Amino acid sequence: MSAVLSPELRERFDAIRALYPPEMAASLVLPLLHCAQEAKGHVTEDDTVMIADYIGVPAIQVLEAMRWYTMFHGAPQGRHVVKVCRNIACALRGAESLIDHLQQRLGIGVGQTTPDGRFTLQTVECLASCGTAPAMQVGNTYFEQLDATRVDQILKDLP
Ligand code: FES
Repeated sequence: MSAVLSPELRERFDAIRALYPPEMAASLVLPLLHCAQEAKGHVTEDDTVMIADYIGVPAIQVLEAMRWYTMFHGAPQGRHVVKVCRNIACALRGAESLIDHLQQRLGIGVGQTTPDGRFTLQTVECLASCGTAPAMQVGNTYFEQLDATRVDQILKDLP
């Protein structure tokens, strides 16, 4: 079953589709996933079917993209999504202890959201900031060369 494509979302999808030549329709998967997520903060499996129907590609193609990229959320998230890299460069420079610190500080585990809905904590693979590890991303902002003190300050400064 697919979600219903609202007139507002259809208008936005049409505007994006107009940027692509018809033979590149499959390239719409990521932009439309972003668009659907912007509309409500996450994308469901029903949304992926809706997008696949709109583009005319197999639903599994959109679902796989949604599940592969950590930038897409399959469920409602906190106001601030804290993504900590756990890959090799960050791991060698203390990512695990930062993740432990964040879990303790926020009182939640990885993949969970604080009861007040303020933070969701996630771990991700490389954020492409290996030279300034350890790194994390909050919303669209990168934070690098982190330690527990800096993480505490960053959380404190968020609205
Ligand atoms: S390994 Fe963490 S940013 Fe690349």
